[in-house]
Formats: sequence, structure tokens, C-alpha cells
Amino acid sequence: MKDILAELEERRAEARLGGGEKRIAAQHAKSKLTARERLEVLLDEGSFEEFDMFVEHRATDFGMEKTKIAGDGVVTGWGTINGRTVFVFAKDFTVFGGSLSEAHAGKITKIQDMALKNRAPIIGLFDAGGARIQEGVAALGGYGEVFQRNVLASGVIPQISVIMGPCAGGDVYSPAMTDFIFMVRHSSYMFVTGPDVVKTVTNETVTAEELGGASVHTTRSSIADGAYDNDVETLTEMRRLIDLLPMNNRAEIPELETSDPAERLEMSLDTLVPDNPNKPYDIKELITKTVDEGDFFEIQAAFARNIITGFGRIEGRTVGIVANQPMVLAGVLDSDASRKAARFVRFCDAFGIPIVTFVDVPGFLPGTAQEYGGLIKHGAKLLFAYGEATVPKITVITRKAYGGAYDVMASKHLRGDVNYAWPSAQIAVMGAKGAVEIIFRASNGDKEELAARTKEYEDRFLSPFVAAERGYIDEVIMPHSTRKRVARALRLLRNKELDNPWKKHDNIPL
Ligand code: HXC
Repeated sequence: MKDILAELEERRAEARLGGGEKRIAAQHAKSKLTARERLEVLLDEGSFEEFDMFVEHRATDFGMEKTKIAGDGVVTGWGTINGRTVFVFAKDFTVFGGSLSEAHAGKITKIQDMALKNRAPIIGLFDAGGARIQEGVAALGGYGEVFQRNVLASGVIPQISVIMGPCAGGDVYSPAMTDFIFMVRHSSYMFVTGPDVVKTVTNETVTAEELGGASVHTTRSSIADGAYDNDVETLTEMRRLIDLLPMNNRAEIPELETSDPAERLEMSLDTLVPDNPNKPYDIKELITKTVDEGDFFEIQAAFARNIITGFGRIEGRTVGIVANQPMVLAGVLDSDASRKAARFVRFCDAFGIPIVTFVDVPGFLPGTAQEYGGLIKHGAKLLFAYGEATVPKITVITRKAYGGAYDVMASKHLRGDVNYAWPSAQIAVMGAKGAVEIIFRASNGDKEELAARTKEYEDRFLSPFVAAERGYIDEVIMPHSTRKRVARALRLLRNKELDNPWKKHDNIPL
């Protein structure tokens, strides 16, 4: 018996070494942790239960039968994050560059199936070169199985992908179908094909960082939802994110104890909006002063900064926050901002997370660049997402809500449940200057008349009261009481029930 126990320990120790000391050292030399070290940081201490540690590939081409490594390049299992179950897989770059064989795929799909069956989130840590080239179609088939499960789990359990090394092929397509992608700055890359293949096919010379580094994917492509400086910080932030998310689409949203009173008043918000309507201010101040303890987890912070999306808590319960940011492009809605917010709204709706929307939007961005880029359909994504969402929707208009953007931003007409406006709100088809120039064109530019008409327009329309008189705004509130009012509205809506008509699925303008 003793011998068998010793043999088990020996086999385990060997499996834990993955590709061996030298490759582990190479991993560390690139400031990267190994797959197992990463799981230690991600999960509660001692909570990781590993599956399939002894699985090996079954390939025989290219002399592969001579190079079998226990675990076959991926560490899989489950554990807890602050006591809540999560399923995990972590690619081991030290074994065949973390590439995916048929057997390796089987380990991942086993975890995907368990996560779905047990309705718990799944987190993949990626550091891998895609399908294992030596296995050919067996590896492609393996990836197909992973992709299919990504699709079936979408909207049922949260799926999070963390990119922690060079990733190509299937190791970027699977993440692309999950809810969130996070990267590590300067050590992680995402591309369908790496710089060498790019050089061969297109003769472009490009570095991995230029092709698919965190800076590219958080600011230009919007593939990644965020990036952090190193492995430990990234994984610690993933623990923070998981704390905010429900286990599945039917589970209650998590509730954490908070010492921050729901009635907290923020007198400084009474002067947040400048007297000059064209002067910017930072909407983030309103967000952090509204959520519990100022704790806000931003999603896509570096992309389309004219709109802010992210999670916070109110009375300990998670809310999704969408806010136009007057500091960037005056908070205008363009294609990027619309896409970014639409995806966020849909995530919240899929997982029963109430949405709080702060509105200060001068409209959609005009111009050929936007129109040629498909602004109509991209803008429609956000309109559609808000319109289909059945979760509690609370809206606070702080200043401008102009034109179509007024409708889009969780207005009453899109089934906003509680719609507030600050006294500084201006709800109109457009700003005074543009409006007067159009409707009083006949005045032939008579300056005095235009000034008088502008004043008339401002007095009549640039306030929340025309909308409030129609019931489009439920109440004009004091800025300082925003947190209190939003918290009360959220409490009111805890048992909200609203169903859309039965359909197979909708046809959101993609
Ligand atoms: C087998 C692989 C591999 C792969 C890397 N390795 N990728 N082995 N299959 N796909 C091995 C390397 O041979 C090497 O082994 C070790 O992993 C480390 O790789 P390096 O190239 O030395 O590392 P690095 O320079 O950091 O480059 C990493 C990389 C690059 C950018 C990921 O390896 C790369 O471009 N790999 C190929 C990517 C690719 O085209 N994959 C197929 C995609 S198709 P040794 O023993 O020499 O150290 C796909 C289909 C899915 O995934 C379908 C999508 C819809």
C-alpha cells in the first residue's frame, strides 16, 4: 500500500512539473506565473480540486508518441472564490505551448459541461498557441466542441477569459465567445495568426505587441474588457469581478454586507453640473458617489470613453451602471460607444442585474465617418438592448438628453421603470442654437430675433419639466439625494416581473 501511495505522489509531482523545470524558468523569466501558480492566486487557498491530471494525448504523427506529458497542457478543475464555486481551466504554456489536442479539448469540455450542469461560472486562463498542429483535424474538432459549449453556456453562466500569454487561433476564438476578456499588459497577446504567419502571408512586419497586445485590444479593437500590469493583479481583479456576478442566469444577484448607508446624501453633487451647459464635468464622480463605498469595477475603461460601463453595488447588491461621460466628446453617442454599452446592457439583462443609467448626452455623433461606419445599426444595438431588457431599469438624467439619444438611454418609452431627472436636465430634440436655426430659418439671420427665439426655446424646452409634465420623468430629484432615490427605486423593483413575448431569440442588429 505504501508503495502505491508513494507512486501516486510521484506521478502527481511529475504532472505538476508540466513541461519541466527549464520551461517553468522560461515562463518566470517572462514575468509569467505557471498555470498552477495562477490558479493558486485566483482561487481561495486550498480550494482547488484538480481533474484529469494524468490525461495524455493519443497522437502518433510526427513522433508525438514519444512526447507525452501528464495533463497535456491544461490544468482543469474547480475551486472557490470567496466561498463561491467556480470552474476553471488554465493553459500550461510549458507543455506544447499550451496548444490544444483532442485529449486536452476533452479536459476542457468536461469542465464546461460540469460548469453548465452545476450552473456555476467558468474562468479560462489562456496562454496558448491554438490547435495543436501535429494533431490536425482532431485538434480542430476539439476546438469545435469547446466553441459549441461556449455558445450553449452563453447567457446561462458567466464565462470569463483571461489572456496571460501569446494566444492564437482557437485560444482567441473561444475567449471571443465568452462574456469578458481581460489581458495582462506586455506579456499577453491575442491574434488569429501570429506575427510570423502575418509576415509570410501579407509581408507585413509587425511585433506581437503591435498586432495584438493589451494596448491594441483595450483601446482600438475593443476585444478586451480590461488589462492589468501583471498576473497577480489580473487574477486578484478577477476575484473582485466574480464577487459581483451571480452564479447563473436564474440565481439571485450576490449581496454583500455594507456599512455605507443607503440614505447617504452627497451635497457636493448639487454643484457637479456647471452653470455653462457646454462645460464638461466628470460623470464618474456621480457614479462613485452613488455606489457603495465608491467601489466601481469598470468594463472597457479605455475604449469609447464617451460612455462608461461597469459594476457597483447599492445596498450590497450588484448593479450595472451605464453613463454618458461629458468629459470625452461631450458624452456623444457614436458607433463604438453604442456597441460597448449595448453589450454591457445585454450582459446585465441576461444575468438579472439591474441597470442604472446616468444620462448626459448631446445626441448621436454626426458625420461621414460615423455614417459610413454604420452608426445607424450600431446605435440601434443600444436602442435594441435597452428595449429588450426586462431587468429593473433606473434612469437619472443629469443634464442633456437630446434627440434620439434621449429615447435610447433607458427612457420611459423603452420601459424605464423609474426615470429621474436633476433640475439641471435639458430634455429636447436638440440644443437651442441648432433648433432655432432650423425652425426660424425664415428670420434670415436677424440676430436680435434669433437671440429672442433662442431664449424662448431655452426657457420652454431646456428643462426637465416639459418631460415631467407628460410623465416621461417620474420625478425631478435633488442631485444630493441621488443615491438614496436610486436605492429606494432598486428596493421597489426587487420583485419586478416582466416577460417579453415568446420567441426563439430576437434578431438584434449585429
Ligand atoms: C503545437 C505549438 C503550437 C501549436 C506553439 N507550439 N504553438 N505546438 N501546436 N499550435 C509550441 C512551439 O512549437 C514551441 O515548442 C512552444 O510551443 C513555444 O512556442 P514558441 O513559438 O517558441 O513561443 P512564442 O515565440 O512565444 O510564440 C507563441 C505563439 C507561436 C505566438 C503562440 O508559437 C505561434 O504562432 N504558434 C502557432 C499559432 C497557430 O497558428 N496555431 C494554430 C491556430 S489554428 P518548442 O518545443 O519548440 O519549445 C486554430 C484552429 C481553431 O487554433 C479554429 C479557430 C476558428
